[in-house]
Amino acid sequence: MILETEKVCKRFGGLQAVKEVSLQVEKGQIFGLIGPNGAGKTTFLNSIAGTYAPESGKVIFTGKDVTGYRADKICHAGMARTYQIVRSFPQMTVRENVMVGGIFGGKQSREKAARRAEELLDFVEFPLSHDLLAQNLNTIQLKRMEMARALATNCHLLLLDEVAAGLTPGELNDITALIRRIRDMGITIIIVEHLMKLIMDVCDRISVLYFGEKLAEGTPEEITENEKVIKAYLGENYLL
Ligand SMILES: Nc1ncnc2c1ncn2[C@@H]1O[C@H](COP(=O)(O)OP(=O)(O)O)[C@@H](O)[C@H]1O
Ligand SMILES: [Mg+2]
Repeated sequence: MILETEKVCKRFGGLQAVKEVSLQVEKGQIFGLIGPNGAGKTTFLNSIAGTYAPESGKVIFTGKDVTGYRADKICHAGMARTYQIVRSFPQMTVRENVMVGGIFGGKQSREKAARRAEELLDFVEFPLSHDLLAQNLNTIQLKRMEMARALATNCHLLLLDEVAAGLTPGELNDITALIRRIRDMGITIIIVEHLMKLIMDVCDRISVLYFGEKLAEGTPEEITENEKVIKAYLGENYLL
């Protein structure tokens, strides 16, 4: 297992946003996390990646207890993430944005980070000049840049929070292919997503969150056939 969580809990005031969520993610898997808006998916990612410390529960990453580690320490341990709302440095170039991942996340020299940024921007098929300022990018370009920045940290586990939101069908195919290529590099991926087609296409295993709790877990086939999941989330016509 590359990641194991044991009964992770996170509360905001009176709201139990994540309740006793236990997951096991095998190395090399693409693991999907789905559920309605407000189910606690982003909060769960935040609780394992060090944005918040979980109030209780445990996070074991590559065999090591990293519960409550700060985000930078988790990142140095090899866990990287992208954000549901893309965060970039608008006044910096695309190359510099990616270099931030290498320098701060991967502890690389400026020169090495610059070279690696070029390689990774090619890998994610970034279509424009790497000298452009990030403020000029559209959604899909920002997402590619953000994925390059996360990869620049030399992560073993990549958390993707709704990377496909707002993409056209063609862009969606590109992102799906890119997610597979990242997995093929040996990086384990946890993907939070609403688009069922993407989830069902790429995931080896899926966990469903509902009001902060794990409702079900299984292969894509098992999840689509699970009565509780259909009732709570998918509905009868979800693939239409
Ligand atoms: N920083 C916060 N402060 C207070 N409530 C929050 C905060 N972040 C999320 N929540 C609440 O926690 C619940 C889970 O949110 P979230 O993890 O963003 O869900 P999801 O990503 O599944 O849509 C929601 O009810 C949301 O309103
Ligand atoms: Mg979310």
